[in-house]
Amino acid sequence: MAADLTVKIGNLTLKNPVMPASGCFGYGEEYAPFYDLNKLGAVVVKGTTAKPCLGNPPIRLAETPAGLLNAIGLQNPGVEAAREKIRSLAQTGVTVIVNVAGHSVEDYLKVIEVLEQDEGTAAYEINISCPNVSAGGMAFGTDPRIVESLVKTLRSCTAKPLIIKLSPNVTDIAEIARAAENAGADAVSLINTLLGMAIDTSSRRPLLANITGGLSGPAVKPVALRMVWQVSSAVNIPVIGMGGISNAQDAVEFLLAGADAVAIGAANFVNPTVCIEAVDGIADYLVKNGFSSVTEIIGLAKNTSADKKGGACGCGKK
Ligand SMILES: Cc1cc2nc3c(=O)[nH]c(=O)nc-3n(C[C@H](O)[C@H](O)[C@H](O)COP(=O)(O)O)c2cc1C
Repeated sequence: MAADLTVKIGNLTLKNPVMPASGCFGYGEEYAPFYDLNKLGAVVVKGTTAKPCLGNPPIRLAETPAGLLNAIGLQNPGVEAAREKIRSLAQTGVTVIVNVAGHSVEDYLKVIEVLEQDEGTAAYEINISCPNVSAGGMAFGTDPRIVESLVKTLRSCTAKPLIIKLSPNVTDIAEIARAAENAGADAVSLINTLLGMAIDTSSRRPLLANITGGLSGPAVKPVALRMVWQVSSAVNIPVIGMGGISNAQDAVEFLLAGADAVAIGAANFVNPTVCIEAVDGIADYLVKNGFSSVTEIIGLAKNTSADKKGGACGCGKK
């Protein structure tokens, strides 16, 4: 018998725990020819800002061993234009999670205010962790007091699930997650990209025009997995795990580490069907290992004597 793949993120039920990560799937248009997007748990669309944003100048992407550095800088058409795309995607039956970005509290509010007028948005993922914009973005995500205040303000503007996307570029990610939870977040998602850079030895200059960029892909998986483990031990709200997931086995690792759902980013550029393969692969894993629902394996790796002794985590228990 097939296993039950449904998971809950706040009051939202997803048909399975797999979604493409923001910025790696656009609005689904380029991927729709490959498979039925309705088979995904949700689609997380590109970071949306109040006004159109051209992003950073090129060069904006650089391949690294087992990873990708990007400094796109939140290029997007702005909320008014994005609204149409979100509506069209939602009309096909897809659960659409809108990633919201901004340089100020007012920017975030404006995006939510506009999208609240439509039915299309199922949940908001609040990007407080973009390393590629000069103001706002990551600055919001590194101070627990600012996170708490931002989330409280946004909480008062919507009843839809608020997912706070955390930056790995902090000393204690669990502290930031707890601040989001205390302020009324329904879930947290992590990780955004790790701040990095590359140097062009011919020009003897940084390769990226922005100088620094965000590292993602398989190279970041061990860091992401460790952070998901820590955060899921520190909060009681659901955790959406991401960072270097390239196949179903990687996704299962995140679920076992405590993620309630997973998102897949850079791997979509290598294999456009990776998300749907992960859905099928998780289902196979559950059946082969005698589980009747995905919720049975969430955090299962913590049921070890090492964790009971507090050896691996050190940031408090659920
Ligand atoms: C090209 C690119 C663009 C991205 N754009 C966004 C974005 O707009 N908003 C956001 O929250 N995260 C963005 N991210 C981060 C991803 O959503 C994800 O958190 C990160 O890449 C880690 O997952 P991965 O290793 O599977 O790619 C972007 C990542 C890449 C590679």
